[in-house]
Amino acid sequence: MSAPLKAPMARLDRLLANLGYGSRREVADLVRKGQVVLDGKVLKDAGARTPVTADLPQRMTVAGQPLDPPAPLTILMHKPLGVVCSHREAGRSVYELLPHRWRAREPGLSTIGRLDKETSGLLLITDDGAFLHRVISPRSHVPKVYRATLERPLSGGEGAVFAAGDLMLEGETEPLAPAALEPLGPRQARLTITEGRYHQVRRMFAAVGNHVGALHRERIGGLSLPANLAPGDWRILSAEEQAALFKS
Ligand code: URA
Repeated sequence: MSAPLKAPMARLDRLLANLGYGSRREVADLVRKGQVVLDGKVLKDAGARTPVTADLPQRMTVAGQPLDPPAPLTILMHKPLGVVCSHREAGRSVYELLPHRWRAREPGLSTIGRLDKETSGLLLITDDGAFLHRVISPRSHVPKVYRATLERPLSGGEGAVFAAGDLMLEGETEPLAPAALEPLGPRQARLTITEGRYHQVRRMFAAVGNHVGALHRERIGGLSLPANLAPGDWRILSAEEQAALFKS
């Protein structure tokens, strides 16, 4: 039997500051005012070291509210149309759909890959760098499944072109890895890719003379977008769901 993992320790003021509750001085003030409670006891010492366990939100309150989830944190979101995935791009971003305080978290949250402003569907957001790299690494071969609605009817030849593994996108020097096309109707198809190149799906259909009107990501690896998660909604991903992602 393997020994249980030891929880990392953190000073209380650092833990709260890293969760975005304020500067170290501001959170020390919260502690002084008796606003931080663990297991029903008011904490007095902002410098005391605390084990950072995943169950802290059930055990600690700050100003009467459950503590925000500590790192590592991964979120599954139904990205709506019209929002961007980058902090740097103009326009409303997916981060604005999360609690405001989370923008000050350390480590910060990043999307795992990006969806275009006009693409909807399954988006993962994490502060766990190792998990992020494992999902996006080409070596992991994690399939990403998209439903594309096309401007023109499928010709019938696209599946073979995408499966060949030699399609070169404009401006690139490496051919695309094989991708699987499943026609769903005259102008609709499901496309499974294992890479994440810039605007990849739109550019693949452009390469075969078509144009993507609407694009929606249905699945990443073994993780599907839950049917009951409305556009703009999100929830925390469990460790089991994270593991399921690599079993597709
Ligand atoms: N391919 C695209 O073209 N856009 C996306 O948002 C994702 C994949």
